[in-house]
Amino acid sequence: MPSLKYYGHSAFRIEDEKHTVFIDPFISGNPVCTSKLEDIRKCDYILLTHAHADHYGDTEALAKKFDATVICTWELAGWFQRRMVKAHPMSTGGSFAFPFGRVKVTLAFHGVGGDPRPDGSVPPPNSPVGYLVHWGKNKVLYHAGDTALFDEMKLYGEQHEIDVACLPIGDNFTMGVEDASKAAEFLKAKTCVPMHYNTFEIIKADPLNFAFHVEKQGARCKVMSPGEKFAF
Ligand code: NI
Ligand code: MN
Repeated sequence: MPSLKYYGHSAFRIEDEKHTVFIDPFISGNPVCTSKLEDIRKCDYILLTHAHADHYGDTEALAKKFDATVICTWELAGWFQRRMVKAHPMSTGGSFAFPFGRVKVTLAFHGVGGDPRPDGSVPPPNSPVGYLVHWGKNKVLYHAGDTALFDEMKLYGEQHEIDVACLPIGDNFTMGVEDASKAAEFLKAKTCVPMHYNTFEIIKADPLNFAFHVEKQGARCKVMSPGEKFAF
């Protein structure tokens, strides 16, 4: 049974006995994260949704330390390879079977710029994406990345039996509570996990308000504290 661990903001880890996969590992410098980068013991793959600093985070450090592969868009894969980091290029709509399961790249409507890295270099423009992760044979997790609400989410809900949907609720840069609640309705996920809120003043949101709307639709809402994990 895989478990999902939350690091605050949009950073997660999916893990089972065999595989450890991080999504948008913003750990160092994440004001709400309770873990330290040094405490991470294993990392096989990293799913990166886009190259803004609050998602890119420790991607490079983790990949180098554990010889992990970064799964990202074509544009970013080239960037990582030039920086001696293993990367698997993908594009929106494509899927690929990795050892831990099949990953499908989903749409996300958001900015395309990359934030400068500490060494001053700037990642190339890249399409922001989300990921549908078919973990093992029968668990499906959707991480929306940073995105606006869009109606193809209805199709994702029809085509995939989503167990867990991680949805941004912080507004301003992404969906807010109202649109994320509509996304939850479209996706028909068994469990929704709010993300991308309360990390910074500009994305303040009430996760219990989101939970209220999700539960009204008959789904479960799991409001995770940084450091918390659950089996799905
Ligand atoms: Ni962003
Ligand atoms: Mn963001």
